[in-house]
Amino acid sequence: MSFYITTPIYYVNAQPHLGHAYTTIATDVLARHMRQRGEDVFFLTGTDEHGEPVADAARAQGLEPRELADRNAERFKALGPVLDISNDFFIRTSDPEHVQRVQEVLQRVHDNGHVYKGMYEGWYCPRCADFKVENEILEGNRCPIHEIELTRESEENYFFALSTFQDALERLYTEHPDFVMPPHHYNEARAFIDSGLQDVSLSRARMHWGVPVPWDPAHVFYVWFDALLNYYTALAYARPGEDLTGRFWPASYHIIGKDILKFHTVFWPALLMAADLPLPHHVFVHGFLLGADGRKMSKSLGNVLDPFEVIEQYGTDALHFYLMRDVPFGADGAVGMEAVRTRYESELANEYGNLASRTIAMVQRYRDGTAPEADFDPELDGEFASLEAEVARLMDRAEPTQALEQIWRRVRRLNRYVEEQAPWQLAKDPAAAGRLDQTLATLVAGLRLLTELLSPYMPASTERLLGALGAPGGQLSGLDPLFPKRAE
Ligand code: MSP
Repeated sequence: MSFYITTPIYYVNAQPHLGHAYTTIATDVLARHMRQRGEDVFFLTGTDEHGEPVADAARAQGLEPRELADRNAERFKALGPVLDISNDFFIRTSDPEHVQRVQEVLQRVHDNGHVYKGMYEGWYCPRCADFKVENEILEGNRCPIHEIELTRESEENYFFALSTFQDALERLYTEHPDFVMPPHHYNEARAFIDSGLQDVSLSRARMHWGVPVPWDPAHVFYVWFDALLNYYTALAYARPGEDLTGRFWPASYHIIGKDILKFHTVFWPALLMAADLPLPHHVFVHGFLLGADGRKMSKSLGNVLDPFEVIEQYGTDALHFYLMRDVPFGADGAVGMEAVRTRYESELANEYGNLASRTIAMVQRYRDGTAPEADFDPELDGEFASLEAEVARLMDRAEPTQALEQIWRRVRRLNRYVEEQAPWQLAKDPAAAGRLDQTLATLVAGLRLLTELLSPYMPASTERLLGALGAPGGQLSGLDPLFPKRAE
């Protein structure tokens, strides 16, 4: 089965921060999990380079938009290897192949009769690159996301006839209750649609940094339409000489933050319908990372968790684990260095790391390093036999936090099992040799299963541990601590 998963493409007007890394890491976990299950996976991320926010930021720095885009796109791209991200392609919306395909698709939307010319006047947020509708605007004409004052703008635009998709979108939502997940975001999107859709502007006349409108090159497309189409265009040119569209479209999951819900859950399906293209199966909406003080993370509040500091002190795997474990995926959650340290020490080092090192040490001490051949302890069998299917079911619903909790319950169960069986006592009693064999065999098999299931979350450490565990029935090798103690 093919599984196509995407992150939003990130604006190049700013430096990457933990919020971007968060979406990318979660998407990476889901992609790795699906690969492990043998699915045919394609994982896309990239940068959103056109439009007003980028043009403004470039001007402020005395640069051409393209110069700023080139510089910052490199920074986002360079994060991939640092964060150990397994994306299959990195799209830049300034790629000529993307530009050409945006023109083709939107020309089709035009030819299908969904575009008209009109006068636009409205309240505009330059940071969102978005005109706000009345019920979104905060008191004092301020942006609901950036809280900055909106500007009154009017210009001649091409419009996308979004309002004519009212019925089709209502039907989509009724027939596919899991088109938007989790349910509270489905309700939010549904309420936006039910409140009545207005047409949206499809082009800008005063902007030049964008994709030219093919039927009227004095205009460029409004950046959101250009940006959304990345999910579709990338497949056509990600592999030179090969078009992956038939293999991977429509997308299985778009993973996004809640700030860009309206674009992905309302504009995007309508645009695809207008272009006669199949719709993605799911849009999964996650929450915001908050500072340790419970407020939205921002540089000015000084409550930002620096991913590089986490990586430097605890490693990349610990950062992935921490983000998937501490903030329920789909909800808002506070993050901070103190919480990273606690999770690292109490769970990674003391629970999982310790389970790994004591299991290997006991097999070495009592059985010369070869895991005994014995059946899995029937007492634990029930709890372990169902785990793989449970994890798969949760991952199918893009619930990596819940899946991790299920895995972790078994990490704890195996540690309790060690205490219950007390292999060091069994080893003293020759009559208990069979019991000791079974205990060690259960520990090794259980640990191997847990480590395989943890591998999408912590690819590097789990690879090391799987190496030490060797092939089933084979020889185990020694292992330096997986999660060594850190200096205070
Ligand atoms: N370029 C648009 C998206 C176009 S997609 C076709 C955009 N870019 S962005 O750089 O602002 O990144 C937005 C995404 O970054 C959010 O949707 C979210 O996934 C992630 N996050 C940015 N800040 C965040 C937090 N503080 N917390 C969690 N995620 C956040 O919007």
